[in-house]
Amino acid sequence: MSTPGMNNNNSQTACINPPPQKHQVWIDATDIRFMAAEDKSLLVAMEATGQAAIEVGCRGGGCGRCRVRVLEGEFFAKRMSKAHIHPGDQEQGLVLACRIFARSDLRLLPEPPELHPVVQPTVSSPPE
Ligand code: FES
Repeated sequence: MSTPGMNNNNSQTACINPPPQKHQVWIDATDIRFMAAEDKSLLVAMEATGQAAIEVGCRGGGCGRCRVRVLEGEFFAKRMSKAHIHPGDQEQGLVLACRIFARSDLRLLPEPPELHPVVQPTVSSPPE
């Protein structure tokens, strides 16, 4: 039985969005390159290609391990913790790879935070 005005062939008309645009990311002074779609953070895009050029930590902007300096190119940035990206850093290209999204080809340099020296526990001698 058919109803006027309805499509009875059970096919659904889907609204098809074009796939997100991809851009090439180049780690400066290396031959490491990978493609990053505009809807994936740089860190997620790197991990998806099996590269390990940028340090991976929390993936959510909390640890600062994925800090990079963008030397060339355009990107969209989500808010970044001031604990890892100080005021003025972003204008100089210093960002967290897990919080930025490529909007053009990018050339960048990993700049993870310096690791704090391990504090050795001191062993006190028992009182005599
Ligand atoms: S991975 Fe932790 S801040 Fe990016």
